[in-house]
Order: sequence, then structure tokens, then C-alpha cells
Amino acid sequence: MKKKRVALLANLKVNAPHWEGMPEDQWDDLDSEKTINIILQAMRNGGYDCEFFEGNFNIIDTLPKYKPDICFNICEGYYGDSREAHIPAILEMLRIPYTGSRVLTLALALDKPMTKRILDFHELPTPPFQTFERVDEPLDPTLRFPLFVKPSREGTSMGVSLKSVVNTKEELYEQVGHIMNRYNQPALVEEYIEGREVTVGMVGNLHGPIARRIPHDENLPRIQSGLRFLPPMEVDLKPYLLTDAVYSNRLKVALAADLNYVCPAPLDDDMVDELNWLAAAVFRVLGTLDVARVDFRLDVKDNWKPYILEINPLPGLSGVSDLVIAAHADGISNEELVVMILETALERNNLK
Ligand SMILES: Nc1ncnc2c1ncn2[C@@H]1O[C@H](COP(=O)(O)OP(=O)(O)OP(=O)(O)O)[C@@H](O)[C@H]1O
Ligand SMILES: [Mg+2]
Repeated sequence: MKKKRVALLANLKVNAPHWEGMPEDQWDDLDSEKTINIILQAMRNGGYDCEFFEGNFNIIDTLPKYKPDICFNICEGYYGDSREAHIPAILEMLRIPYTGSRVLTLALALDKPMTKRILDFHELPTPPFQTFERVDEPLDPTLRFPLFVKPSREGTSMGVSLKSVVNTKEELYEQVGHIMNRYNQPALVEEYIEGREVTVGMVGNLHGPIARRIPHDENLPRIQSGLRFLPPMEVDLKPYLLTDAVYSNRLKVALAADLNYVCPAPLDDDMVDELNWLAAAVFRVLGTLDVARVDFRLDVKDNWKPYILEINPLPGLSGVSDLVIAAHADGISNEELVVMILETALERNNLK
């Protein structure tokens, strides 16, 4: 049988535009050549033909020549508030199938306030919030300090540090101004959830309808079949409580190799069930496909109640990425994880 052809589409950090005065973390979301090589190797060892294509306009010419059966898409894009959806939009115009979530979900998940409005609609727990489109907007009087300030549409904890936790209006407005200036987008202000830092990764697709409202009846079955949950991963932030307190950009980028990732996180079975169910619910209401990672904070002040921070439909696949660490804890290698995602997408597209 002829080998299936996979086009790996990604945005390499080394190929990204550079300019003078560019913020140091500007392209922290993009991929390294090392990650690309891991994925290429995984595909080839898995019995697929695979070539890498930089995710830019050139794919309009190059992909139809290569004639892939499917694209393995991990493009984060460069500019704009829907940048992760750009390449998928081109692929849909070219009518080429691709792994992972589609245009609408990628655009929604990149926009944390939009995601939180959907979670609120479904009564899924996410910290109370307000967005600041101007630096002088009055603070919603129902929000309680300490608050947490972050960009609305970034990843890899860009703009997140100890300074994100603010205790007074003065600190709040200073941080809101900083985020708006630096990232040129609305600032998202949430109540600060002090506690543990846990993330849940999953691969697969839910059986049954995706965009139906979560039933209120607690006795109805919790729809999660079709998803394979990886063990929850906790980042041990105790050594960094005074310097970072949260899973900051500094910890994710400069100190990633030194961190203590605990996986499976020491949580009781009921809590793991609850986190998996919440992760599946977020996956469902956002219309996610094939793979995702949902980030939580467990509230130390409220019996470790889980709060959903965000969903990542394009979770990192490098050796130090949370999803890869969680897969390892389940006996799945980095290469196997990549092939699992590909084969999930092939199956969903009836290409297997
Ligand atoms: N409301 C909050 N309360 C407490 N900590 C928070 C809150 N929001 C974010 N954080 C901290 O900031 C980190 C980054 O936040 P978030 O996951 O929203 O951003 P991100 O940059 O999109 O992350 P990723 O790298 O997963 O894409 C969280 O992992 C958590 O440590
Ligand atoms: Mg996150």
C-alpha cells in the first residue's frame, strides 16, 4: 500500500520576522528546528511520508504540488487576533484536511475573554473577570483583590510574572497599562486563584454532538467517551513562590529544564475525574478536535475547587512541553504522541 503523505506545517522561530526593539518574548510561542525534527522522525518511523513546510503564503503553491493526504498543523501564526487560524483557513480553501481544531475554535481559544464568555454561558468554573480595552476603565466593583492581569491573546505566559498579581487599584492600572502597551491588545483581569497549578492533556474526539449546552442535571451521563486523558500534570511552584508565584514566562522559557513537573499529579481519584470531566466539557463547548490541553488552578481557599484558565488546542510538542511530559507519564513517547494525534485526525477524516 502506498504510504500516506503528511505535510508538516509549522512556524519556526528562526524564520519569524525580526525588527529592532522587538520584545524578547515576541516569538516564544513558535517552534524550534528540534521539535520539527522530532515530528518528522515520528511520522517517518510511523510509516508515513512527511515533509516540512513553513506555514506562510508559499503553501498555496507548494502544497498542491506535494499533494498531501493530510497536514499536521502546529502553526501559531504571526500577526493578528486570529493568527492561529490563518493557515487552517488557507487549508480549507485548498480543501486539504489537517490535524487539530478548525478555524473558529483556534480563533476562539486564542482569545481568552471570548473563551471565558463561552465557559460562563455553560456554567463551567473560570475566574470572574473583566477586560480592559482602555487603561482608564472603571474596575467592576464585584471583582475582589488580589487580581491577575494578563494579555487577552498570548501564550507561553507572555506578559505573566509575579507583577501580574496586583493588590491595589494603583498596581492594577499600572499593570493593565503595561500589558496594553507591550502587547497592543486588551488586558484580561481575573480574580487571582491562589493554589495549585495543574494541566490536563487529551487526545481523541468526543463521540456525539459537540456544540450542545452542558446539561444541568448532575445525574445525566458526563459525555467524555472518545477522549484519552493523559495523567494530570502539576508544576511544583513551591520553590518559586516568592519569585514567580505562578507559571510565569521565565519558568516556561528560561527555567523549563529545572522545574519539577509532577505527573501524575498527587490528586485523589474524585479530583482527577472532576478535572477530566471539566477538560472534556471545555473541549466540547469550544468544538475542539484531536488534541488539547486545559489549564487549571485549584483554589487553596475553597477546598481546592478547580478553575479553568484556558484551553490550548495547539499544545506544544517539544520535549519540555507539558503535553509531552504528561504523555511520558503514561508510557507514551514524544514520537508516539505525535503519531497518535495524526492517526486521530486521519480517522476523523475517514482516511485511515
Ligand atoms: N486567574 C489566575 N489566577 C492565578 N494564576 C493565574 C491566573 N491566570 C493565569 N495564571 C497563571 O499564569 C499562567 C499562564 O496563564 P495562561 O495559562 O492563561 O496563559 P498562557 O500564556 O496562554 O499559557 P500557555 O503557555 O499554556 O499557552 C497560568 O499557568 C497560571 O500560573
Ligand atoms: Mg496556559
